Amino acid sequence: MHIQVGIIGAGPAGLLLARMLHLQGISSVVLESRSRPYVESRIRAGLLEQGSVDLLTETGMADRLYKEAMVHEGIELVFDGQRHRIDITALTGRKVYIYGQQEVVKDMIVANLAAGVPILFEAQASEISGLEGERATIRYTHEGKEEVLTCDYIAGCDGFHGICRDAIPPQLMRGHDRIYPFGWLGILADAPPTRDELLYCRHDNGFALFTMRSPTVSRCYIQVPPDEDAENWSDDQIWSELETRLGKHEGLTISTGKITQKSVTAMRSYVAEPMRHGRLFLAGDSAHIVPPTGAKGMNLAISDIYVLSKALVAFYKKNDASLFETYGATCLRRIWRAQHFSWWMTSMLHNLPDASPFDAKRQVAELYTIATSKAGQTLLAENYVGLPFET
Ligand code: FAD
Ligand code: PHB
Repeated sequence: MHIQVGIIGAGPAGLLLARMLHLQGISSVVLESRSRPYVESRIRAGLLEQGSVDLLTETGMADRLYKEAMVHEGIELVFDGQRHRIDITALTGRKVYIYGQQEVVKDMIVANLAAGVPILFEAQASEISGLEGERATIRYTHEGKEEVLTCDYIAGCDGFHGICRDAIPPQLMRGHDRIYPFGWLGILADAPPTRDELLYCRHDNGFALFTMRSPTVSRCYIQVPPDEDAENWSDDQIWSELETRLGKHEGLTISTGKITQKSVTAMRSYVAEPMRHGRLFLAGDSAHIVPPTGAKGMNLAISDIYVLSKALVAFYKKNDASLFETYGATCLRRIWRAQHFSWWMTSMLHNLPDASPFDAKRQVAELYTIATSKAGQTLLAENYVGLPFET
């Protein structure tokens, strides 16, 4: 079978691309190694930038989001026994949306399947080739059979552990990597959110984040060692540590409930350059990952696809291949700024295992600088709400 664009991976990147191409009459097939129930229940990110929501709206995939998402206009920074609100909307005119990544994925799957875009679940791509030739080839296994798909272009939307990044010759590839000496223990709990907005806490015991999924479900994270086993933490220990890190801030009592899911995520910053090789384009986590502190992972996947879809549409509709040449550089400008923001938020709010008392005092001073200055708050708010999409 031959198709215009072969998409590997049914995460937010691959599914959004399939939808955007379909709306322009460009054919694609999405190959996904996991089952549909698996990808629809994978608990990951939860915060969408205004620009991401605008794109989901334009592509007709935001109806349920508008009914169910929680719209936020600010966040609170908690440190040194105090809470400081950053009024994101007053500072930027924009908002952020709390809506689980698995809900975004469900909406994208429904929209694609309803439009007849093929998504092959349990279809594992094993090899891609022909990237420098006349046509590209994807070998994959589906329903126990070895299959071959040829395509004009391949979108490598297969996440950090996929196969596409490694198909770029190593002598051309440069990976920029930073591994952090901590991870996040994340929980979902049947507990109403402690506050209406997200709480980012710096504490001498480590970072904590209070976020949510609905008016009855909280999502909370605490900084733990990177190789921590989530099973080492009883529910009581988790709530007690969250209570300690949030502290007794102006009478705040955290709301608790049954913990329904818990897991540990290691923290890493990574950028692959280049993002294109011949007929292959990398997008989303296959090309870069960020520590989740700035909530940028899923949003960057979406902004990459904005750029890639414009390039593919220019080629198929106007026979203009010029945006292929600039794809990587355009994405990387925004990616590196999001990398900086994610690293900055992470360094400002987490405890390094070997931190000295000087480091702790400096961190608190930095938080005061940001929280008490309009310029500081604006810097944080502009990045948090998301930089503009470019092409
Ligand atoms: P993915 O969502 O990873 O999708 C890639 C898809 O490709 C997957 O479905 C995978 O099964 C499929 N695939 C891989 N290899 C193959 C193959 N060979 N053949 C076929 N299919 C293949 N971001 C935040 O902002 N906040 C968070 O709290 C947060 N938590 C996270 C927790 C975890 C455990 C992880 C892994 C990520 C988290 N992220 C978070 C990051 C965010 O979820 C990602 O940035 C986002 O999923 C990127 O989307 P994507 O489409 O590029 O990749
Ligand atoms: C989440 O809701 O999972 C979330 C929100 C904000 C972050 C990270 C994760 O910075």
